[in-house]
Amino acid sequence: MKKVILMLAAVLTMAACCNKQETATTDPADVVMQNILNRKSVRSYTGDTIPAAVMENILKAAMSAPTGMDVRPWSFVVLTDKSQYETIFAGNFNMKKFMESGAVVVICADTTVTRPPRDNPDGPAVTVDDPIWRDDMGACTENLLLAVEAYGLGACWTACYPFPDTMKPVKEALGLPASVVPYAIVPIGYPSTENTPKDKWDPARVHYDRW
Ligand SMILES: Cc1cc2nc3c(=O)[nH]c(=O)nc-3n(C[C@H](O)[C@H](O)[C@H](O)COP(=O)(O)O)c2cc1C
Repeated sequence: MKKVILMLAAVLTMAACCNKQETATTDPADVVMQNILNRKSVRSYTGDTIPAAVMENILKAAMSAPTGMDVRPWSFVVLTDKSQYETIFAGNFNMKKFMESGAVVVICADTTVTRPPRDNPDGPAVTVDDPIWRDDMGACTENLLLAVEAYGLGACWTACYPFPDTMKPVKEALGLPASVVPYAIVPIGYPSTENTPKDKWDPARVHYDRW
């Protein structure tokens, strides 16, 4: 009898634990917060390819970023042929580390964006060289990285714009139009090592009401 009671208690405890975990992981706010806090740069990969449907969702996340005047200046070149990687990463000090990524996304920006004039949002579209595209592209790139994290993949934002030596070989190799710049190069793959996110929370950086 004592044995049965002990077993029952163990089963009930296990069930309670499972329920608790489930509650924690299904709360949408917890899930989103965990994903953001877990994002980290990953620089070593197994070499496995990324399913096309996963890649499409990652790009969908990138394209859902906010942009000034909703101009969406982005385009993406997805590379899976590893023979192209050497040229693409030619200007990067971590080049060797990225050779085993399953895909590389070159995130491009059209720097001459077309949008309605600011003083007349309903007026005819105008083409302007507006530096706000850089902010748009930052939001887009971070969205992409968060989607990568959500799929259990790893990625690293690597700089391209505004470095002429890094951009030139990429522009040439990919045949980018004159007004399009390669903004960032993001290798994506299945992590081959454990990667720990950095805890960057610093309450001293927060000011309420005034500095
Ligand atoms: C604009 C930008 C450029 C970056 N360029 C590189 C790069 O060229 N090579 C690299 O290994 N990491 C690069 N990183 C990744 C940073 O080193 C990394 O985000 C930073 O160390 C913080 O680490 P975490 O991403 O793991 O939080 C870049 C990140 C940003 C936002």
